[in-house]
Amino acid sequence: MTLKQAEFDSYYNKELQYIKWFEPYIQPKMLDEWNNQSIRAGMWLLDVGGGCSLDSIFYASNGIHTVVLDFSENALNKLKKLADFYGVKIECENASILSVPERLSNKFDILTDNGCFHHIEPEYRLQYINSASHLLKKGGLLYIRAISEYVPPSTDNSLSAYRISADDITRKEFLDKFKLVEMSLFDYILNPRGRQKIWFIKLQRR
Ligand SMILES: C[S@@+](CC[C@H](N)C(=O)[O-])C[C@H]1O[C@@H](n2cnc3c(N)ncnc32)[C@H](O)[C@@H]1O
Repeated sequence: MTLKQAEFDSYYNKELQYIKWFEPYIQPKMLDEWNNQSIRAGMWLLDVGGGCSLDSIFYASNGIHTVVLDFSENALNKLKKLADFYGVKIECENASILSVPERLSNKFDILTDNGCFHHIEPEYRLQYINSASHLLKKGGLLYIRAISEYVPPSTDNSLSAYRISADDITRKEFLDKFKLVEMSLFDYILNPRGRQKIWFIKLQRR
């Protein structure tokens, strides 16, 4: 277990309401993707670093085959309780996105990532993109939501996220594997220190 993995796992010992990134609503940008039918019932979806978010509950309760991958076992245990509470079926994969099981290759129509990519060390981002490309079917979609370069560095050292620039995404190595469909900023409304500019990035596997 890496130090970062141990830190996340220990953080997830908190009650749900004290987890700083737990949002008590479905991501509006992802609801748009459901409403515009980019994400549909019957598809296979992998939530990368999905933790115990309500998004996967939404996908699973709408007939999407939902798999949540997270390297924190505690996060997945919390998610299993939520899934039982809502009476939905979610498959959990306790693994790192940097070393995914071969049996998941080419399985998914959709990959969603709300807040995992910005925790990946810059030197491993290419590995992340390679994993994502292996997991997705050709033409499949990868959604990344990540803290942007327009947000000041964190003053809270606990599990702080890298700030992601447009250049971090539009680099050749990424665009060789994925077509950029959309890259826009939206406001994260729950931050107590004020609104944060978050990237909404939609990529399509070539
Ligand atoms: C900021 S949290 C977001 C959790 C969830 N997506 C949400 O919206 O509530 C980041 C998540 O990514 C997971 N994570 C970080 N690095 C990872 C990696 N290399 N592989 C798998 N999961 C990872 C953490 O355990 C954590 O659950």
